[in-house]
Amino acid sequence: MMRIPVDLGKDSYDIIIEKGGISKAGEFFDLKRKVLIVTDSGVPSEYSKAVEAQCSDSVTVILPEGEASKSLNNFEKICHMMLKNNFSREDCVVAVGGGVTGDIAGFAASCYMRGVDFYNIPTTLLSQVDSSVGGKTAVDFCGIKNIVGTFYQPKGVIIDSEVLETLDERQFSCGASEIIKMAAAFDREFFEIIETSCIQDNLEKAIAGALKIKAKVVEEDEKEKGLRKALNFGHTIGHGIESETTLLHGECVAVGMLCMCSPEVRKRIEPVLKREGLATTMAEAVSRGIAEEFDREKLTDVVTEAVMHDKKAEDGIITAVKVDEIGRFRFEKLDKKQISSAIREVLQ
Ligand code: GLY
Repeated sequence: MMRIPVDLGKDSYDIIIEKGGISKAGEFFDLKRKVLIVTDSGVPSEYSKAVEAQCSDSVTVILPEGEASKSLNNFEKICHMMLKNNFSREDCVVAVGGGVTGDIAGFAASCYMRGVDFYNIPTTLLSQVDSSVGGKTAVDFCGIKNIVGTFYQPKGVIIDSEVLETLDERQFSCGASEIIKMAAAFDREFFEIIETSCIQDNLEKAIAGALKIKAKVVEEDEKEKGLRKALNFGHTIGHGIESETTLLHGECVAVGMLCMCSPEVRKRIEPVLKREGLATTMAEAVSRGIAEEFDREKLTDVVTEAVMHDKKAEDGIITAVKVDEIGRFRFEKLDKKQISSAIREVLQ
């Protein structure tokens, strides 16, 4: 068992990395009270049942799988379930699922009676190494991702690498993409480790490496005033590609990273992405059948528009994270023309 503390004063908590940890949730979380378990239809039911088995008084909400579930309707459904079952401020919510489940369950926990305890058991590699830690909770609203939400830290997080055995390969690669992102932007030594060995072969070490970076960043900048924005390496253009294509989040981050780094860094990141099963160009994604045929100029234009309309744009200027040297990042302000040419470059 490995314990990674996240030191945030009165909001501190531990991340427990433990094979089979889901079946021991009661050892790490206080489940001797009413527990609302939130999961989704894509998560094997044995995982939420493993948590239920450790509770004396639990109810479970199963949301439909997918981003569309991050809605105010489902937020209402979760709150309603707590109300109907007489949850008090002393009770708690446990998320068992990927990023969507964790984000909406955490948001409901942060609002119900002005905040009940929240625990997270992420079941995808992507949510294990990123969204389960750091307290960002949200729902999507009016077509805008994560626009309504809170910063609300969990009381504990369990990372059980055994649950990844049921994760499909494409989803696994998406998590690998975020691990590569953290290493490339923040930690040269960690990058060298994942450069020489497959993430799957050293899974817990790779997860722990990413989480140590995430914990440090969140400790320094919980509310994303500065440093935490660097976690968006690959995301600026990645989000634009995500909104205009069928690619998954981590796949878009992979392509997004490649146009935000120096040629030297690109030379090192690209083979690692490939080894982890990620497409490094849109053409490759098309030939694999995970993206539709595209017209380069048209897609460049729509992705550019999507990036420029991102809620983080200010007066037509986007602050992007650039990596010129492995383990170091810098922020750079880019205008529409610069964004467009970076996009055109990766849309080959
Ligand atoms: N996923 C980026 C962050 O937590 O800030």
